[in-house]
Order: sequence, then structure tokens, then C-alpha cells
Amino acid sequence: MELAIVTGGGGALGRGVATALKAKGWRVMLLDMVQEHAQEVSTELGGLPWKILDVTKLADVQRVFAEIAEEHGAIGALVNAAGGAMSLRVPKADVATQNPEHWDRMIGVNIYGTFNTCHTVAPYLKRNGKGGIVSLASGAGMQGGPPIARQSGAALYSATKAGVIAFTQALSQELGPHGIRVNAVSPGRNESRAKPLARMLEMQKEEESSDPGSGRVSPLIRFGRPSDIGDAVAFLLSEEASYITGCCLDLTGGIRMH
Ligand SMILES: NC(=O)c1ccc[n+]([C@@H]2O[C@H](COP(=O)([O-])OP(=O)(O)OC[C@H]3O[C@@H](n4cnc5c(N)ncnc54)[C@H](O)[C@@H]3O)[C@@H](O)[C@H]2O)c1
Repeated sequence: MELAIVTGGGGALGRGVATALKAKGWRVMLLDMVQEHAQEVSTELGGLPWKILDVTKLADVQRVFAEIAEEHGAIGALVNAAGGAMSLRVPKADVATQNPEHWDRMIGVNIYGTFNTCHTVAPYLKRNGKGGIVSLASGAGMQGGPPIARQSGAALYSATKAGVIAFTQALSQELGPHGIRVNAVSPGRNESRAKPLARMLEMQKEEESSDPGSGRVSPLIRFGRPSDIGDAVAFLLSEEASYITGCCLDLTGGIRMH
């Protein structure tokens, strides 16, 4: 089976993606800038290969992807799941309080990171005449939000995720004639390393008590699960999705509707 590279593979959603891809028979390579994150998920999933990579550094991305191609053969798919609030260290504060250092971190991971990996993987996929890319955008990139109390660097985060969606659409036009499909998914309220389910439930209670109605969950009356994201990504990379490209699949469980 083909090889799928998952950036941020040591994260909550990266783990969900790696789990689903492995179950569908993909060989999975985990990439993460934090060694313990990658190692933990690797061990949990029976010893998946992993490498350390900071996706904001183009030269490192190029070196690591070349190593992977050399060691594991053709690259079949790329999933961009690096990011998340914990590593960005951008405060939950209004735009006036943010500073260019925060903007750089957010743009660095969400925009440069996605661009660096796609730029690097495209020639490998073109060589095979097939392949797939899926990037994790966000419901906040499809519609502005959520509020600053819930999202680090909320407005900037929305802007960068909207950028990921537009980049996905444009890249799908460019790579489609080479047999490469490019899609995105937009998770809503889901787990992250810093926010496991128990913490999300606590946060929702706090939101509801200070501002009734604000702790809105999906009409399905649950939060998203990493497996929801993994299953959707696995679908988008499968043959069953062979006529889907340039799409951003809404995985907010109906919290946001378009
Ligand atoms: N969890 C949610 O509710 C949610 C909702 C919408 C979108 N997303 C998006 O999904 C993606 C994954 O988020 P998550 O919830 O799994 O976060 P997470 O914090 O659980 O995991 C993110 C992982 O990415 C790694 N990482 C961070 N910066 C990196 C870099 N520069 N290079 C390589 N690895 C890096 C971290 O070490 C971590 O292991 C992010 O893009 C996030 O914005 C998450």
C-alpha cells in the first residue's frame, strides 16, 4: 500500500488521521516538531515510523521529504495537520492586543507550513501521476469566528485558515491535470492535545454559566472526535472520492452551516 505523510502526526487530530489511514491499509509516516508527541502516537499505533520536522522551515521540509522518498519509496499522500493553539503560543486576546510576533507564528504554521509541504510534495506526486493532499483548515476559516474567549488569536486564525481553503482550491486546479486531488477539511469543536474531551466539557460549562447559549454544541449533541476527522480524511484520499477535488469538507457537526 502507498505511503501517507501526516504532519502534526503527534497531535490529537493527527493521531485520528493516522489511525484511520492505517486502518485503511496506508503506510503512515508521522512528522511532528515535538519528539514526544510523535513517539507517543507511534507507540500507540504499533510503531509507525516518525521524524522530527518543523513545517515552517522549507529547507528542513525538503530534506525530510527527500529522506522519506529515499527510505520508503513513492509518496502517495500528504495530510497537513500541524498547528494547534498549544504550539503557536498566541494568546486569547483581541486584535488590538496581538502583535506581529503572534501574526508571524500563526501565519508561519498555517500558511507557510501548508505551502512548504505542498510545494515540496508536488513534484513527488507528479512523478507518480497520482496522489492526494488534504489540509486541516477550520470551521473558523469558512466563516469568521469563534470568539476570542475560545480561540487563540481568533481573527488571525480565521484569516489563515481561510487562506488554507483558498490555497487548496487553487492548488486543486493546478494539480488536477496530473491526477492529484487536493482537498481540505474544516473541523469544528474537537479535541486537541491541550484540550482533551474532559477539558472541553468543563469549558462548555464555564461558557454556558457566564454567557448562556454561547457554549453551543452540534445538533448531534456531542463534540467532534479525532476519528471523525480521520475517517473524513481517509475518505477524501480514497478511490471513493475520485471525483472530489478543491473541496473543503465541513466537519463541524452542523455547528456552522453554509
Ligand atoms: N482541535 C480542534 O478543535 C480543531 C478545530 C479546527 C481546526 N483544527 C486544526 O487541526 C490541526 C491539528 O490540530 P490539533 O487539534 O490536532 O492540535 P494539537 O495541538 O493536538 O496537535 C498539533 C500537533 O502539531 C504539532 N506542530 C505544531 N507546530 C508544528 C510545526 N511547525 N511543525 C510540525 N509540527 C507542528 C504539535 O507538536 C502537535 O503535536 C491544526 O491545524 C488546527 O488548527 C483543530
